[in-house]
Amino acid sequence: MKILSIETSCDETAIAILEVKGFFSPTCTVIAHGVASQASLHAQYGGVFPAMAKREHAKNIAPLTAHVFKEANLFNTINQTNPFSLQEIERILEREPELFAEFQKTFTDIAKPDIDRIAVTIGPGLEPALWVGINFARALSTFWNIPVVPVNHMEGHVLSTALTPDTKSFKIRTLKKQFPSLSLLVSGGHTELVLAKRIGDYTILGQTRDDAVGEAFDKVARMLDLPYPGGPEISRLAKEAREKYDSKDRAKITLPRPMLHSPDFDFSFSGIKTAVLYMVRDMKKMTEKNKALIAVEFEDSAIEVLVAKTLRAAKKYKTKQIIVGGGVAANTHLRETLTEKSVAQNIHVVFPTRELSTDNAVMIGIAGYFGKIEKDIYLLRAHGNMQL
Ligand code: KG4
Ligand code: ZN
Repeated sequence: MKILSIETSCDETAIAILEVKGFFSPTCTVIAHGVASQASLHAQYGGVFPAMAKREHAKNIAPLTAHVFKEANLFNTINQTNPFSLQEIERILEREPELFAEFQKTFTDIAKPDIDRIAVTIGPGLEPALWVGINFARALSTFWNIPVVPVNHMEGHVLSTALTPDTKSFKIRTLKKQFPSLSLLVSGGHTELVLAKRIGDYTILGQTRDDAVGEAFDKVARMLDLPYPGGPEISRLAKEAREKYDSKDRAKITLPRPMLHSPDFDFSFSGIKTAVLYMVRDMKKMTEKNKALIAVEFEDSAIEVLVAKTLRAAKKYKTKQIIVGGGVAANTHLRETLTEKSVAQNIHVVFPTRELSTDNAVMIGIAGYFGKIEKDIYLLRAHGNMQL
């Protein structure tokens, strides 16, 4: 089965084409994929600005899709125009006139590609941004008569560990070893511990009560005058501080570990963020050294809580495998600490590749392979707060 997948839930426009075979022990090949990030545009706001995200998705999604199709050798022109009336497409894209213009320019004389289904993220995420992907999926589905499968973005993150890269590209890997597992999902919008028994069978054990951990990284970065997205910046400074400063220096800056010992599996990150805020305010001058010391202490505290609670949940639910997903899964300190502590307890940990940790369409395609076709494309809706 060949799948075209579309992701627009936040600030990355992403498209992938996958070929998946088999059901009980499926294999997957990524034929082509691409991500157009808006991060640098949102940087001036210190976070994602929804109206701008929508506009950028609408501008970039058709050219990005054409690019990925070309790479997959699926972009073939026909001599006559597609018999399907563009009026219907115009109606579907009436809220995205710019996207309609791009659509017309890009796809009018393109033959129906060899694609069996279109997978599209319908939530959770920013609704205006999600709608661009959904309307684009509706338009392509109508234009080429290809069915659409709605996908939950978080299920995509759960399945992002199903692929390993070889030296050149992403290559076939079986999914059968993926379950049962405990999933730690850590991104800019989410912090969740999920018991994943099998595909489609997910129980949320706990989640953040306030900020997501990625959001806390971004906000602390902003307080330290570091650019958005803050995760990689904090991580870079923290690494520097670990190499440069000894324990005596580092003990000068201490932050709380919220809910570390609470008996549930919930999290809270706004307290650490507020503590940083006061700390920064009380420092008369922010030196490079203090910046690095705050970064490392913040990273230590956030990751310590994540690791401790994840391992406690694995123990309680007797899971022998932990899979991690979401942008913060790219964090080196989390990767090293969780792996080291899990191995000591005989638990296997799987991280996605760094490229598949942050938002992408490959994971959406995999989730779409197992999802159910929505026969009426007009029932597809954006669900900003969709749960797993
Ligand atoms: O999954 P993702 O790409 O988008 C959402 O669905 O939110 O996650 C983005 C988040 C941002 O908050 C970013 O700061 C964080 O992931 N992030 C990191 C790192 N790389 C990205 N956080 C910590 N360390 C990193 N290396
Ligand atoms: Zn995400």
